[in-house]
Amino acid sequence: MVGIMNKTRNPHLSEQKKPDQLYSQPREAITSFAFDQSVVDVFEDMIGRSVPGYSTLLSMFPVISRYFVKENTRCYDLGCSLGASTLAMVQGIDQTGVSIMAVDNSSAMVEKCRHAIEQHVSNVDVEVREYDICELPIENASMVVMNFTLQFIEESLRPALIEKIFDGMNEAGVFVLSEKIAIADNIEQDRQISLHHAFKKANGYSDLEVSQKRSSLENVLVPETVELHISRLKTAGFSEVFVWFQCFNFVSILAIK
Ligand SMILES: C[S@@+](CC[C@H](N)C(=O)[O-])C[C@H]1O[C@@H](n2cnc3c(N)ncnc32)[C@H](O)[C@@H]1O
Repeated sequence: MVGIMNKTRNPHLSEQKKPDQLYSQPREAITSFAFDQSVVDVFEDMIGRSVPGYSTLLSMFPVISRYFVKENTRCYDLGCSLGASTLAMVQGIDQTGVSIMAVDNSSAMVEKCRHAIEQHVSNVDVEVREYDICELPIENASMVVMNFTLQFIEESLRPALIEKIFDGMNEAGVFVLSEKIAIADNIEQDRQISLHHAFKKANGYSDLEVSQKRSSLENVLVPETVELHISRLKTAGFSEVFVWFQCFNFVSILAIK
């Protein structure tokens, strides 16, 4: 267990961000995207320049954790990467006896996440675990965050994962699910994808980078419609399910038990 302390600076921005240039040169063959060391090294820059609304979304996690987290319960950050969601949650937690489990199955991510968490100290205990979230036991949870991770889980495993999260949560607990979405209406889908690409280009990515990254994510990041997410969450038993944040084709849903 590692202690954490609230810091005034934005918890998900580090002083030394290595620029993401992974797809800047033409590649002979595009391999499938993986959260390996090369991605981990540039991940903070990559996610900030690739996910519209990412920092605004994270800046609301302290508000959500202060509102929902209960004394003597657990929080989970499933697919924690470098711990940005964990550190944002921690900022809002002044309830006593709370611990956070931050989980990722990429050993390179986990190693760097542990280092990031160790830079902070507070009354919230954080454990960073290298584990497959599909196998992870979840219990006594008042807040679970899955920020842009379900989209990387094999589709057939998604319903059972959502059911397991529901089962491990306490009454009135909150599940925050953020995802890139697919849109059933073809015109809106094309427009939102164009706007997402325009966002990436505004953040300095070239057409080549956008196109090579897109190919590498093919069949690795598999988005679903917001309607499917909401219906799956309701089927699992969540009583209130609604979109609280959207920026182009990226949404975040609150599901309350
Ligand atoms: C887009 S990143 C998540 C970003 C992070 N939640 C944030 O807010 O900055 C997806 C993460 O999910 C992790 N992941 C994918 N499949 C996983 C699994 N089955 N179990 C645990 N982690 C997984 C990846 O290693 C990666 O770090």
